Amino acid sequence: MGMKIDILTLFPNLFTGFLSESIIKRAIEKKLLEINLINFRDYSPLNNGQVDDTPYGGGPGMVLRCEPIFRCLDEIKTPDSVVIMLSPSGKPFKQQMAREISQAKHIILICGRYEGFDERIKTLVDLEVSIGDYVLTGGEVPAMVVIDAVSRLIPGVINADSLTSESFEENLLDYPNYTKPSEYRNLKVPDVLLSGDHAKIKAYREEARRNITKKNRPDLME
Ligand code: ADE
Repeated sequence: MGMKIDILTLFPNLFTGFLSESIIKRAIEKKLLEINLINFRDYSPLNNGQVDDTPYGGGPGMVLRCEPIFRCLDEIKTPDSVVIMLSPSGKPFKQQMAREISQAKHIILICGRYEGFDERIKTLVDLEVSIGDYVLTGGEVPAMVVIDAVSRLIPGVINADSLTSESFEENLLDYPNYTKPSEYRNLKVPDVLLSGDHAKIKAYREEARRNITKKNRPDLME
């Protein structure tokens, strides 16, 4: 049980807040998650710790060189490892992908900076992942997104009841929730939720899920 996650990054400190609070912190304490931050600059063979260089063929920006990543993976990759590269050119990250990744014993997340990776690094990679159609300054925030979404699916990390009937189950968004007070500034909780009639509540919620999905994410319903 549990998962080991190695994060290859040039900016390990970006992760410290994320890993030291709330559910992720508790998962690490309970040994359901083991997370290692690896600065791949430490694997540069060049005396100045250089990790990037200008692109062959010309063009703007800097490209991450092969050697630091290859040398680091030589040390940490095993037959059990799933190697994931974060890149805006990757496959879209979805709840189903999070479910599949959550089955792995060991994942290695490679975070890029600059214009991108030397293409040859992809020979080491099992899965290229993008968290959305926008360009970020690096793969660190995407890696946190992947870790967050995957961790909560590992048994014991959160209450299993919280995983049923949430957004993206059955390709629908979640139903709306209300809590006390039943009326606030003239805003009322729908009567059906106070009725105690569980069949009616179930039907209301199913319809609400269809309606919100149609409005905000018609693409999910095809
Ligand atoms: N690196 C930069 N932008 C990214 C994105 N949208 N997804 C994954 N990695 C990225």
